[in-house]
Amino acid sequence: MSAYPRIIAHRCGGALAPENSLAGLAVAARLGCRAVEFDVMLTADGVPILMHDETLERTTYCAGRVADCTFAEIRACTASVPTLDEALKECRRLGLWVNIELKPAAGYETETGAVVGRWLVDYWDGRGVVSSFSEKSALAGRRALPNAAFALLCERLPDDWQDQVACLQAQSVHLAAADVDARTATVLGAIPWACYTVNDRSAAACLEQLGCSAVFTDRPDLWLPAEM
Ligand code: G3P
Ligand code: MG
Repeated sequence: MSAYPRIIAHRCGGALAPENSLAGLAVAARLGCRAVEFDVMLTADGVPILMHDETLERTTYCAGRVADCTFAEIRACTASVPTLDEALKECRRLGLWVNIELKPAAGYETETGAVVGRWLVDYWDGRGVVSSFSEKSALAGRRALPNAAFALLCERLPDDWQDQVACLQAQSVHLAAADVDARTATVLGAIPWACYTVNDRSAAACLEQLGCSAVFTDRPDLWLPAEM
């Protein structure tokens, strides 16, 4: 796995652009970010798009469940939702390392991991890491992508985290910053780990002191390019 950049713009450009958008990628790159994270969900016809919520209302002018709408229906009402294809092309053009977070709609966990994983085999250069809160999605993605880097993604480090890491063949762990303390860092030992979502520099510095490799942030503008 390529080493973690220290600062990862959360949902593409953090709070500085619409979340999970191509505009966010441009903002992140302009600020000097070397890495971004985004969420990937399947439309009803199996197109991977950048989307965090299962429903369209919060981030678009459309309504309904993503899993019930075809890509053409979503595109017809908003041009602002990128496909994974569009986002990865832009990441490649901008030189951005990427954390692809599989974000399945309920009931589509395995399908999301399998479909996105198969797609990534053909169209991703592997510069980054795949993760998912859904164990089913992550494992299905791993089956399709035996050579990619994967991170175990959980809010709080579970007691059986080493078993989960082994099962997923994960190279790193992503955790909620709020649930990380010195004991967590000790338990993690040598495996690289990163924390979301860290929006101030002092909190990031404390985590780094504990051994955190990278933080996901909505405020990449708080760092200078040379620090990222
Ligand atoms: O993958 C890290 C972070 O993005 C997880 O939280 O809800 O923003 O996807 P969320
Ligand atoms: Mg995410």
